[in-house]
Amino acid sequence: MENILILGGDGYLGWPSAMFFSNKRYKVTVVDNYLRRDICKKLDISMLYNVPNLIERARIWHKLTGLEIKVAIGDLQDSEFVRSLFNGTVKYDWAASKEYAGLPDTVIHFAEMPSAPYSMMDYRTANLTISNNLIVTNNLMYAVKDFSVETHIVKLGTMGEYGTPNIDIEEGWLEIEHNGRKDKFIYPRQAGSIYHTTKIMDTDLLWFGVRTWGLKVTDLMQGPVYGIETEESKIDERLKTIFNYDEIFGTVINRFLVQAVAGYPLTVYGAGGQTRGYININDTIQCIYLSIKNPPAEGELNIYNQFTETFTVKELAEQIQSIAIKLGYDCNISLIKNPRKELENHYYNVNHKSLLGLGLKPHYLTEKVLKGMFKFVGKFKENIKKDIIFKGVKW
Ligand SMILES: NC(=O)c1ccc[n+]([C@@H]2O[C@H](COP(=O)([O-])OP(=O)(O)OC[C@H]3O[C@@H](n4cnc5c(N)ncnc54)[C@H](O)[C@@H]3O)[C@@H](O)[C@H]2O)c1
Repeated sequence: MENILILGGDGYLGWPSAMFFSNKRYKVTVVDNYLRRDICKKLDISMLYNVPNLIERARIWHKLTGLEIKVAIGDLQDSEFVRSLFNGTVKYDWAASKEYAGLPDTVIHFAEMPSAPYSMMDYRTANLTISNNLIVTNNLMYAVKDFSVETHIVKLGTMGEYGTPNIDIEEGWLEIEHNGRKDKFIYPRQAGSIYHTTKIMDTDLLWFGVRTWGLKVTDLMQGPVYGIETEESKIDERLKTIFNYDEIFGTVINRFLVQAVAGYPLTVYGAGGQTRGYININDTIQCIYLSIKNPPAEGELNIYNQFTETFTVKELAEQIQSIAIKLGYDCNISLIKNPRKELENHYYNVNHKSLLGLGLKPHYLTEKVLKGMFKFVGKFKENIKKDIIFKGVKW
């Protein structure tokens, strides 16, 4: 049985991934310190519905399926805590059997502060983002180097690392010819927020570990994720993942859906020509699974561009508006002054063949998918607080 350690297991992507791998009979351990929930509380941001804490969810999962997801609650910025997950001294906060899970074959690293607007609020939130994301990544890298060099690290990066250059975006690498000589480098990156800049620095740290100590790393350049339900979350209401619809943590498609249900105009920044690559939550999990099934060789860094289709923000708003109207919602689009520093019209042509080549079967943003999400969000209409939707964090 393969052994997987999931860092950030309480999160939007971490918990559905934990259930997916547990259901596939992997031995799963999840770790989290509730940073995401704590920031939401501090900023008075409520989620669309309440979700039991990680220990409760692991208990419910075990009761319903008989499968064990071990839970360790702790701050991964604490290097001794991270090392305890690798040297066998960890104390689980919940487990069906308290016996040490053993060295992980794979670590999936989700445990970061993932919000661009949060990182841009002020110097304190920028500092938290930088120290949290870089120290967690560095602690993980050292623990793998010191205890388990064979472990494959699957790291969630972001398409935002590339920015919006005026040339085609390749998958991670670019061959450059200069003064008659050639070499291959990591594709030039130019992020648009402090958060995205930490993701570039994460990639650089791990690339150093790969070159220097022969680590095996896959870095997934992921686009904004949308969706709620996965096969496993359908087993029981209490197993659904966390869902934010505010400007700080809500990703754009999830946010627009809630805005449409609440009768709040869809807030398009500037002209809405910003193009990004998007991915369904079920495909995120598929991509991680495919990456684990196809690990890099020792001393190699795999970089995959992880999204399935591109849209401008205006196209997304129009698509969601048209379905909202069909479903009887009164839905308007409002073009507002862009609080961010970003290009609103730009070239965007991204190579994303690798994961398709490994067997990814995309779930596209169809009318059926959107209607399913509308139905789901509609059940929680009474919980929506309009005052948290837009805060206007400026760059
Ligand atoms: N959701 C997206 O659209 C998206 C897009 C691109 C990339 N990503 C990346 O994917 C990863 C997961 O994203 P998500 O949307 O699930 O975010 P999330 O905030 O829901 O999940 C991250 C989890 O990590 C935990 N965490 C953070 N710092 C920690 C620490 N020091 N110790 C222990 N736990 C800690 C948080 O409490 C949270 O539960 C992130 O690295 C993010 O940058 C997400």
